[in-house]
Amino acid sequence: MRLTRKLVFENHVAVVTGASQGIGRAIALGLAAKEAMLFLVGRNTAALHEVAELARKSSPRVVAHATDLVAEGATTIIAEKILQELGGLDMLIHCAGAYSQGGLQTASIDEFDRLYRTNVRMPYLLTQSLLPMLKRRQGQIAFVNSSKGLQAHANAGQFAATQHALRAIADSLRDEVNSDGIRVFSVYPGRTATPRMETIFQAEGREYKPELLLQPEDIAEVVVNTLMMPLTAEVTNITIRPRIKSY
Ligand SMILES: NC(=O)c1ccc[n+]([C@@H]2O[C@H](COP(=O)([O-])OP(=O)(O)OC[C@H]3O[C@@H](n4cnc5c(N)ncnc54)[C@H](OP(=O)(O)O)[C@@H]3O)[C@@H](O)[C@H]2O)c1
Repeated sequence: MRLTRKLVFENHVAVVTGASQGIGRAIALGLAAKEAMLFLVGRNTAALHEVAELARKSSPRVVAHATDLVAEGATTIIAEKILQELGGLDMLIHCAGAYSQGGLQTASIDEFDRLYRTNVRMPYLLTQSLLPMLKRRQGQIAFVNSSKGLQAHANAGQFAATQHALRAIADSLRDEVNSDGIRVFSVYPGRTATPRMETIFQAEGREYKPELLLQPEDIAEVVVNTLMMPLTAEVTNITIRPRIKSY
């Protein structure tokens, strides 16, 4: 049992989904700074390779895997590639996700299905594909959820429903795999300055002032520090919100 806090992730492999931008990008770079080996996933090939290049400045090994995670068979291919290229897995960080706004009376059911496939079914399936590898190394799983996974508000009901489902998946999974030595935690951030948030502010017709919001690096710091906790401890749920509430 490791009683002290980890200082670096030497010889540890992490998968980060949604690594091409925003919070996932910051987590990828935060883990690279702690010398973790990385398997980065996103759809935008150019953006993903740019993050991989930056990560290689401190990480000993970085694999960029551009794919649409909801595509049939995508998660099985990821499991095979990780084994082939990195030999195993210690940490799975779920950060890819989709968002949409709209009230229940008019919101599109196709959009609801898209959010379900991306925010619920995909992380479920990816976890299922990677769990055997994580069990072999007593690994860790992080779910980047949302404050809306704890409290729903008007006009984001579809998104909030998927985040509540994701919370249920994380909580039940923790109960199932704790006895295998696996730790599972969820982070519930409030509004964070990412490309997604800029689009939301535009849609709301509001001036975007990213400096007043949480920064992607704030979330990354919480995730990396939690992953480094000594093995005597298990953090389960963390909420983090912008310090300034009036904006
Ligand atoms: N920003 C916030 O205020 C906030 C607050 C609370 C929680 N969160 C959560 O934090 C996570 C990241 O948020 P963010 O703001 O950084 O989001 P973002 O800017 O919209 O980035 C989303 C990321 O997910 C990837 N992605 C989405 N669908 C994918 C798919 N089908 N296959 C592969 N990759 C896919 C995107 O990849 P490509 O761009 O390459 O397609 C991108 O890297 C989300 O789960 C979100 O719900 C965000």
